[in-house]
Amino acid sequence: MLYGGDYNPEQWPREIWDEDMRIFKKAAINTATINVFSWANLQPSENEYDFSELDEIIEMLTNENYDIVLGTSTAALPAWMCRKYPDVTRVDFEGRKHHFSHRHNHCPNSSNFQLFAQKLVSKLAERYGNHPNVKIWHISNEYSGECYCDNCAKAFRDWVRDKYKTIEAVNEAWNMTFWGHRLYDWEDIIPPNYLGDGISDTAAAFAGLSIDYRRFNSDSLLANFVMEKEEIRRYDETTPVTTNLMGAYKPLDYFKWAKEMDIVSWDNYPSHNTPLSHTAMNHDLMRGLKYGQSFMLMEQTPSQQNWQPYNSLKRPGKMRVQSYQTIAHGADTIQFFQMRRSKGATEKFHGAVIEHVGHEETRVFREAAELGKELAQLEDTLIGAETKARVGILFDWDNYWALEYTSGPTVDLYYVDQIQRYYETLYHNNVAVDIIPLDADLEKYDLVLAPVLYMIKEGVAEKIERFVENGGTFLTTYMSGIVDQSDNVHLGGYPGPLRELLGIWVEEVDALAPEKRNTVEFVKDEWDKNSYECRMLCDLLHLEGAEAVAHYSSDFYKGMPAVTKNAFGKGEAWYVATLPEQEMLQEIIDHLLETKGIVGFGVQPEGIEITSRSKEDKEYIFVMNHTEEEKNVTYNFEDYQELLSSAEGKETLQLEPFGVRIYTKKA
Ligand code: GLA
Ligand code: ZN
Repeated sequence: MLYGGDYNPEQWPREIWDEDMRIFKKAAINTATINVFSWANLQPSENEYDFSELDEIIEMLTNENYDIVLGTSTAALPAWMCRKYPDVTRVDFEGRKHHFSHRHNHCPNSSNFQLFAQKLVSKLAERYGNHPNVKIWHISNEYSGECYCDNCAKAFRDWVRDKYKTIEAVNEAWNMTFWGHRLYDWEDIIPPNYLGDGISDTAAAFAGLSIDYRRFNSDSLLANFVMEKEEIRRYDETTPVTTNLMGAYKPLDYFKWAKEMDIVSWDNYPSHNTPLSHTAMNHDLMRGLKYGQSFMLMEQTPSQQNWQPYNSLKRPGKMRVQSYQTIAHGADTIQFFQMRRSKGATEKFHGAVIEHVGHEETRVFREAAELGKELAQLEDTLIGAETKARVGILFDWDNYWALEYTSGPTVDLYYVDQIQRYYETLYHNNVAVDIIPLDADLEKYDLVLAPVLYMIKEGVAEKIERFVENGGTFLTTYMSGIVDQSDNVHLGGYPGPLRELLGIWVEEVDALAPEKRNTVEFVKDEWDKNSYECRMLCDLLHLEGAEAVAHYSSDFYKGMPAVTKNAFGKGEAWYVATLPEQEMLQEIIDHLLETKGIVGFGVQPEGIEITSRSKEDKEYIFVMNHTEEEKNVTYNFEDYQELLSSAEGKETLQLEPFGVRIYTKKA
């Protein structure tokens, strides 16, 4: 298992390198991610390349037997390039042209950037491509943001022309007769930033246009990635290529990106108050990008971040349990940012395996060393193990963008937040979940949830219908089925193409101010509790074949259905028309799990998480205590053996603070 992280010897004098080599060994570090931000050193001027320092670093790591994750260094531009070729820097949402600055900020459509990046990567690939210690290529770093410069405007016009063919089709797609925005010529297409039709990250005058710009921007950066990858492939046909992603990062359609990546890697930076289930969900999303394949944890901090408002230390044991949580959800590597704490600039207070004191006699180092030894002991037991989930949650970046651009009915609706509420109900039961794209094979699942599936693109409704017809259970919510791929409403009543499947018709959507509540009551008294509060959005809907499971009990729409279910083929389609208290969602999901016979590892004390991965008929069950208190786990491990300690499993398990167990059935 790769264990190591971002290593920047170029920031340090040579004697420190030797120290690093000595110290890393003590922590069973076996890998180093290098050359992530070295363009300025590798190419000190337009016609000059210098690989001498990188040669030395690679030689040193090779001599010491480290696996290398080799960066391509294109995430930060050299100063000379910005000075001589200003088109390599971006124009931002406010329309401001940026100077040489920061990182992750090249213009993706700058031909100078493309040319220089291609040349650099070509030289790197030629030089190191078949080096036996180079195990992974790490292209650029955390691709992010967007550009609105003239080159991007031009490229966007080509992208739009390619997609729509005629300007009339564009007018139609973006509904440009509204406000007399009819376009006559391709040149009339203006990037939707603040100086154009953009309003903010979460508002757009013409969402169809803004969504297309997001698609275009994601494609543009992806094209940069693909360009580098192809350059690598000219010299190196086999070494896997990745770039580090960022969970549910909004601007990039990671499902599309993953198709071009050999392996998914991502950077996990929960803050001190990030819900555990949120981190779990991010891992599942990252695993879902390449179904059935493990991912890499490219970065986590061993101790603390520097860029959050409050950079609390990870309590003793917490880094370990977080690492196992990552592995439990599908990671095959554990890597840190960073190996040695930098002495200056913005990340000098970011945690590292080696702290500013410079030696290994620290708590953080000791914990990294203990984990390193444990992971070494596991060898490749868990490598490639898969998650077996019977529940899928649909996630779609187009939908993410569209939903959050809407003007009305409420400003409180955030996509990931909505997904999270449903994910949480499954997490609560320690039930495994796959987070899946719209083109996933739904037949693998018994239960598919699609909270706020606002945008229904061509073919999606039919696909969900087939899934339900064949016996699947499907659940969706308010703000679903409303628009097409261009954000134009599916006319004829909400939820548009899902209407028949759900057997309902939504007439109006009420948005409640934050302090307002309605109540929902279950129709039958087979539920734990009869009545719950609800808030935010309330659909006013009519039954068209569905059955009311719950209805509103106040306001002028009192008595109208608030939760419905519809028998469709051999399956059932559920609709939750409002945002109820979490306990009510829990009841509904518990009911669906029960009817489908989906049993997880059961409800556990707060802070206990159980999930598993399987390999060659063996299931590895990870039990994790994310809290500072001892907890009693209520799962019978009598016939099991523990992997880390070889201890026999028992009927009950008292798990120490931040404790971890990995159980397998005895042979
Ligand atoms: C990101 C970057 C790293 C570093 C860390 C700090 O993940 O990829 O270069 O800046 O954040 O948390
Ligand atoms: Zn640009």
